[in-house]
Amino acid sequence: MKRGARLAIGLLLAIGFVGALFSLRGGTAVPADLSSSTSCRACHADVWDEWASSWHAQSFTDPLVLAKEQSDNFRKQECIPCHAPAPVFESGLGKERVIERFSERELGVDCLSCHRNYGTIVGPGTPSSGAANAPCAPIADARLASPALCAPCHNQHLTVDEWEASSYPKAGVTCLDCHMQPVERTNGDGTTRRGRSHRFPGGHDLETLHKAFTLRTEIQEGANGGKVLVVLLTNSGAGHNFPADARHRALDLVVTLQQHDGIELPPRDGGRGYGRERGTARRRFRNPYREETERLTNKEQFGRENTQLIAGETVAFEVPFDPAAVARARIELIYKLTPIQLDDEGARIHDAAIELR
Ligand code: HEC
Ligand code: HEC
Ligand code: HEC
Ligand code: HEC
Ligand code: HEC
Repeated sequence: MKRGARLAIGLLLAIGFVGALFSLRGGTAVPADLSSSTSCRACHADVWDEWASSWHAQSFTDPLVLAKEQSDNFRKQECIPCHAPAPVFESGLGKERVIERFSERELGVDCLSCHRNYGTIVGPGTPSSGAANAPCAPIADARLASPALCAPCHNQHLTVDEWEASSYPKAGVTCLDCHMQPVERTNGDGTTRRGRSHRFPGGHDLETLHKAFTLRTEIQEGANGGKVLVVLLTNSGAGHNFPADARHRALDLVVTLQQHDGIELPPRDGGRGYGRERGTARRRFRNPYREETERLTNKEQFGRENTQLIAGETVAFEVPFDPAAVARARIELIYKLTPIQLDDEGARIHDAAIELR
């Protein structure tokens, strides 16, 4: 950013702080310190604890991000903006670019990243009754609860575009419905109100991963007296592509056929490459990064470069077998945080054996 623009923002900030001081009504406690998220902790301990357990709180200290081949301890400056962001209400909502923060970067995506708008705190579109007299003087703004808040950081990985293209917006189902579950909060006077969890569960959370899909199997007649095991995998619960994220994640559907004597059939394509330790047949769901050769292979094999499951989509994976030789099949769905993880390092979110009669 140009020095002039930075100065202008600084000036606006200063005006904002003064504004916040004057907006306090008589009798309220000390104003919240809008220069650091740590000031929110004293009064919002429950929200703080949820946030502290979230990946938003780890975004600047996450070992996966710090790795040499990733941000190299953030020596790659272009990685800083979303992982230690200045408030998005200030840099622009929707598909605007995020600006890096220069203080307390270790707090990652912190309270102020989402709640500060220069000199004020942004609150929910439907504020609680207590909010009117709150020391932090939140100003209600419906944009806080909208996907436009998530977009500056999450649309680089295309998640918001994918949601927009799905049937969820029409049904009124937004990011918050699946990623910010309702929780009960206790006010100072002992009464309760409805809040929203700040844990933001996603790909690191088994329960959330289990909600993303349904899997069915069918056995059909094949060629020359053979049969075909058809595994039908549906993205039935993610409001965007599954696995979400245009860069890191991979999902492997692995089918292992077993003979009557228990011996497993080797891979159909002969190879046991790195990260493919198991299975007779495998299909990978993933959006390969930029110029990776996997894009071309996908295009040849499946007619599309990106094999992520689109919201609502069902893919049929067909594994032909000889019923005289094969007795059963093991079907595994392995979710990998990075495409280079080994089968045993991933999360096995489905694992079942079926008899092939
Ligand atoms: C200012 C940037 C920013 C904003 C705004 C933001 N996020 Fe994030 N979010 C991140 C970053 C960076 C991570 C990755 C942290 C890590 O794992 O290192 C993340 C992680 C997540 C994860 C967890 C993924 C996992 O690995 O389990 C979910 C879910 C999520 N965000 C949802 C949302 C939703 C929904 C919104 C909007 C309400 C939102 N985020 C707003 C930057 C942001
Ligand atoms: C435009 C915003 C943005 C920028 C710039 C950005 N990231 Fe991220 N990063 C995110 C978001 C959002 C997530 C979580 C999203 C998800 O998993 O879909 C994330 C997640 C990650 C993760 C996965 C973390 C985990 O625990 O699984 C890694 C690794 C990562 N980023 C590395 C980088 C590197 C390296 C750079 C610089 C080359 C970078 N990021 C730049 C937004 C960004
Ligand atoms: C001195 C105590 C105090 C501090 C410090 C404080 N808040 Fe608050 N905040 C409150 C109280 C009290 C409410 C009213 C909530 C209620 O209804 O009980 C509130 C309300 C809110 C709301 C709106 C809740 C709603 O349902 O409308 C948001 C958002 C919020 N605070 C964010 C923050 C952030 C972010 C910080 C740190 C910059 C912060 N607060 C610092 C006491 C505080
Ligand atoms: C990734 C963005 C994001 C971060 C980070 C974040 N919030 Fe929020 N917060 C939201 C959204 C979105 C809502 C509005 C939910 C709604 O409209 O129902 C919200 C609602 C709230 C509320 C009112 C509802 C409730 O659950 O009580 C409070 C208070 C609050 N946030 C405080 C904080 C504090 C304190 C922090 C830091 C520890 C924080 N938030 C970090 C996005 C965020
Ligand atoms: C109908 C429920 C639903 C909606 C709506 C939804 N998500 Fe998700 N989201 C999921 C499920 C389930 C997962 C876990 C499976 C996956 O990673 O795709 C997930 C995963 C994620 C992740 C984690 C990716 C990772 O790599 O760890 C991010 C980030 C995310 N969603 C952001 C968003 C954003 C931003 C929106 C709104 C534009 C949104 N989600 C809307 C259900 C939903």
